[in-house]
Amino acid sequence: MIGLKQLSDTLLNEASSLAQLRDALNAFTQRCSDVGGILPDRSFNAWAGDALLKNGVAISPAAAAHCVNDTQRSVVFIRAVYAAIKAAQARFAQGPVEILYAGCGPFATLLLPLLGRFEAGELTVHLLDIHQRSLDSVGLLINDFGLQAHHISCTQGDACDYQHPNHPHVIIAETMQKSLEQEPQFAVTANLAPQLHPQGIFIPQQVEVDLCLARLNEERAAVKRGDTLDSDALIADGKRHRLATALCLIPEQAATLQQQASRNSAGLLELNPIHVTMPVTADLTDFDPVLFTRVQAFEQHQLIDYESEITLPLRCTELTPLRAGEHFKLSFQLGNYPKFAITPVDGGDDSVDSRAPLTP
Ligand SMILES: C[S@@+](CC[C@H](N)C(=O)[O-])C[C@H]1O[C@@H](n2cnc3c(N)ncnc32)[C@H](O)[C@@H]1O
Repeated sequence: MIGLKQLSDTLLNEASSLAQLRDALNAFTQRCSDVGGILPDRSFNAWAGDALLKNGVAISPAAAAHCVNDTQRSVVFIRAVYAAIKAAQARFAQGPVEILYAGCGPFATLLLPLLGRFEAGELTVHLLDIHQRSLDSVGLLINDFGLQAHHISCTQGDACDYQHPNHPHVIIAETMQKSLEQEPQFAVTANLAPQLHPQGIFIPQQVEVDLCLARLNEERAAVKRGDTLDSDALIADGKRHRLATALCLIPEQAATLQQQASRNSAGLLELNPIHVTMPVTADLTDFDPVLFTRVQAFEQHQLIDYESEITLPLRCTELTPLRAGEHFKLSFQLGNYPKFAITPVDGGDDSVDSRAPLTP
């Protein structure tokens, strides 16, 4: 039976192999499922337990448990959380460090493996999730891992309107899918970030979604072969073109962006759109319009394209076939199914020379 010390040693060790990291996370999942009674499940049946909230979908406890298996995501976030707590301990030396973990799921995966590295009293931990069943599971795990002496409280509620009684030093929230679609990461961030202590740390520190032209099948084939894709090199070689930053979610700016949101013609709330013109390139037909997501969890702890399920590319079918000179606007829609929406704008430039190359 895996203990927290062994688990966190493996997860935090930069020299651990992928197989060692997977084994450690599998052992963690196994013990959590045995104790908490929730089996990871990504299948359709798991969706039945989703909570359809006004700001997005809160995936079911079984599906949230399945997130552990997104190895690189779990490892990068756990390392980020550890580094952030250490940074917070240095900043707030009088202690204890107050942590709010929103959307903890049934295993509190991003924090629980680390708790054995801290003395009781060093941290005050608040766990929040919409699913009571997940909190019940975490309660059982706290006992099973012998963490009863730590100050840990559990609250059932919606992180999109939850008000914390004070200003946490660290806030953790990973309620997202690729391209910030479906789950309420934006609204959770907009609600919680203003509640952070002024010198506190919000994890993730940044989520950037870029609209690009890419040779998606080629890129996917390379990833499948095990090649590491370097987006800068792809861009320099003209194999990928960056059209625009669709959204850069920075916690300190999220509430302001939300306040500036307006209703579109269908009555849906959307952030200020960005306007894009499809560039002129001879080989436009070789490319797919794609949204790429990058997540900076904390400092150097980042997830780049293809590295995890939450940073997989998303093809924008609304833009195909690609038309040189077409004007369109791209806006992030809030509401019960957050997503990017693309709307053509009249006045596309018919005079563009579609044979001219696009400069990287
Ligand atoms: C993607 S899972 C992540 C689970 C876990 N934190 C992890 O990283 O493995 C998202 C979790 O956030 C919860 N959640 C999503 N939206 C929420 C909201 N608005 N309020 C509270 N919990 C929410 C879901 O119930 C789910 O447990």
